[in-house]
Amino acid sequence: MAPLPISSIGVGKIDDVQELIKSKPNKVPERFIREANERGVLVSHKTHLHHHIPVVDLSKLSKPHTDDDFLFEILKLSQACEDWGFFQVINHGIEVGVVEDIEKVAKEFFEMPLEEKKKYPMEPGTVQGYGQAFIFSEDQKLDWCNMFALGVHPPSIRNPKLWPSKPARFSENLEGYSKEIRKLCKRLLKYIAISLDLKEERFEEMFGEAVQAVRMNYYPPCSRPDLVMGLSPHSDGSALTVLQQSKNSRVGLQILKDNTWVPVQPLPNALVINIGDTIEVLTNGKYKSVEHRAVTNRERERLTIVTFYAPNYEVKIEPMGELVDDETNPCKYRSYNHGDYSYHYVSNKLQGKKSLDFAKILN
Ligand code: OGA
Ligand code: NI
Repeated sequence: MAPLPISSIGVGKIDDVQELIKSKPNKVPERFIREANERGVLVSHKTHLHHHIPVVDLSKLSKPHTDDDFLFEILKLSQACEDWGFFQVINHGIEVGVVEDIEKVAKEFFEMPLEEKKKYPMEPGTVQGYGQAFIFSEDQKLDWCNMFALGVHPPSIRNPKLWPSKPARFSENLEGYSKEIRKLCKRLLKYIAISLDLKEERFEEMFGEAVQAVRMNYYPPCSRPDLVMGLSPHSDGSALTVLQQSKNSRVGLQILKDNTWVPVQPLPNALVINIGDTIEVLTNGKYKSVEHRAVTNRERERLTIVTFYAPNYEVKIEPMGELVDDETNPCKYRSYNHGDYSYHYVSNKLQGKKSLDFAKILN
């Protein structure tokens, strides 16, 4: 989440979705209604029983590296990253209390009166604070979602004015949660390196002081989920993304697999992990950053807490030499500075995998 120096861009009136449904529960303003080909119908997961994102058991990856369980799970991980770009992790070792505590304060935050949340505004052209990100024009359609985003690590990317004083334990819980998610990301990157036949520390050494940001997405119920989009289709600019979905919420996340939107049915106590654009580039496209989106439903709100983990802005990104072969696997992406990619990502609207065009070598 690189800072954006754009000072005043015309974005038109952005309605706060939670306020909208309070005053007119059955009305969907024009600016939220998508073109027919962009609408997010909620496919029943029953029609996709054959289509479940892979599950990786981290307890098996804690075993000695020569153990059959370890090797089998690494294989599963590598297939998940190649074929899906998405997987769920179970037995990740993060205490239930930590997960519940962040969910509690996030929910309390969104339930506060608008005046309170407005003390932490996401100014047009910036990506931290409360509001809607990625809006750059007056005619751009809006997502059926309220967001609260914060830079977390390193401390230099924080905007302390945006860390809320209410709910009381918000900052404390976010700190605790972020530490755990950071450890998880470092662990996952080790396993991902092993799955690619690379040295365990390969990513950690390359990434330097990794950048970590969090975005909380609150999707209120919608009287016409068939007309709107919760979150526009996109891939993530991160290296890895960790998504936590509030307990008992409806399925909302969908990923594009073989040209079909496949719903992700979260498992209890699991976290959803996805490969971001950065790992796609580093692996020369072997591991995929897959397009995904969120849809809404009529009955119940849905809350997700999403962590983006990425290299330091200074780091040069390009396909790793080990994974490029001029004859059989030529280099597909150019070399760039991660900070430049971050800036490019946040200064454009979400539009499928379009942001990766920045890095592609087009023949
Ligand atoms: C995101 C994201 C999906 C969701 O925040 O990048 O993909 O279900 N969220 O909230
Ligand atoms: Ni995403």
